[in-house]
Amino acid sequence: MKAVVLVGGQGTRLRPLTLTTPKQMLPVAGRPMIERVLAHLAAHGVDEVILSLGYRPDAFRVAYPDGRCAGVRLQYAVEPEPRDTAGGIAFAARFAGLGETFLVQNGDVLTDLDITALVAFHQRAGGVASISLTPVDDPSRYGVVATDDRGRVTAFVEKPEPGTAPSNLINAGTYVLEPEVLDHISGDEPVSIERETFPALVSEGLLFALASDADWVDAGTVVTYLHANLSLARREEHWVDARADIDPAAVVSGSIIGAGAVVSEGACVERALVMGGARVGRSAIIRDSIIGAGAVVGDGAVIEALSILGDGVAVEAGLAASGRLFPAPVS
Ligand code: GDD
Ligand code: MG
Repeated sequence: MKAVVLVGGQGTRLRPLTLTTPKQMLPVAGRPMIERVLAHLAAHGVDEVILSLGYRPDAFRVAYPDGRCAGVRLQYAVEPEPRDTAGGIAFAARFAGLGETFLVQNGDVLTDLDITALVAFHQRAGGVASISLTPVDDPSRYGVVATDDRGRVTAFVEKPEPGTAPSNLINAGTYVLEPEVLDHISGDEPVSIERETFPALVSEGLLFALASDADWVDAGTVVTYLHANLSLARREEHWVDARADIDPAAVVSGSIIGAGAVVSEGACVERALVMGGARVGRSAIIRDSIIGAGAVVGDGAVIEALSILGDGVAVEAGLAASGRLFPAPVS
């Protein structure tokens, strides 16, 4: 089966990391996010993936120059300008000439969803599109979905005002689509599958949904990205890369340290992600924060409470940063 994987967004909620690296090329417990997403698709029989690219497409082409990644063949569909989710799917599907049932995957979702069961549900349901749902505590930052008892979607509301969601089941970002869906997505303009295409299909009774209790995370925010890293590291026992240099008089706990990173004498790193080639100075403290690739933390600095240093950024000795981004966002 073929799949379109959406990886063209700007990743604004993960800036400054995404100023230099597109979201799906950021590491998750030592492996680029996209490789984890594609390996899961491959495990359910996907052999060909069309990457729906927009922002920084070269990062993918450079990383996988022979057009293979995690056991699947890749095609690169680079949209000429941002087309939003449905526009990106349609551009990629037309680019690859998809004429049969295909999968779509949001590229920042890490899950062990049974995709094979979703495809079987889609065939039984007989709609033109079937989507996977997952329960969450606060649905307001997602696409919220209500269904009847046979799985026909009766409402799809993208990012409802807090307290107004029709259910706590949300769009989990994995879809089975019939090619007819493309007829609902016009030409060359940006179209949102969540705000336009799905609501239109709901009004025609053609959209179905299957809830799942599989592990699921959208790793697209600072909190969820850091959490996804640390929980996968725990499960896979991947913490400190063998090529990292940790001083014997440093304390590193519950943290990921990438290849070539240096943690100096007296430093303390807790529940943090220190990417490849970064340097943590003497007696510096890093807690619940992310140090980007090649970034440098000066001696004695304290970086905590969801602070982020972008790739290659240096902060001076003795600095105290709580919940801060480096470089600071331009407002
Ligand atoms: N090609 C292309 N072009 N891809 C895009 C574009 C675009 O213009 N905009 C966003 N994407 C990609 C992103 O890279 C990401 O993989 C995917 O589309 C979804 O975009 P996000 O920005 O991550 O959306 P979200 O997390 O706010 O919401 C989406 O995911 C939720 C579940 O994780 C929606 O689909 C929600 O309905 C859903 O609940
Ligand atoms: Mg997302």
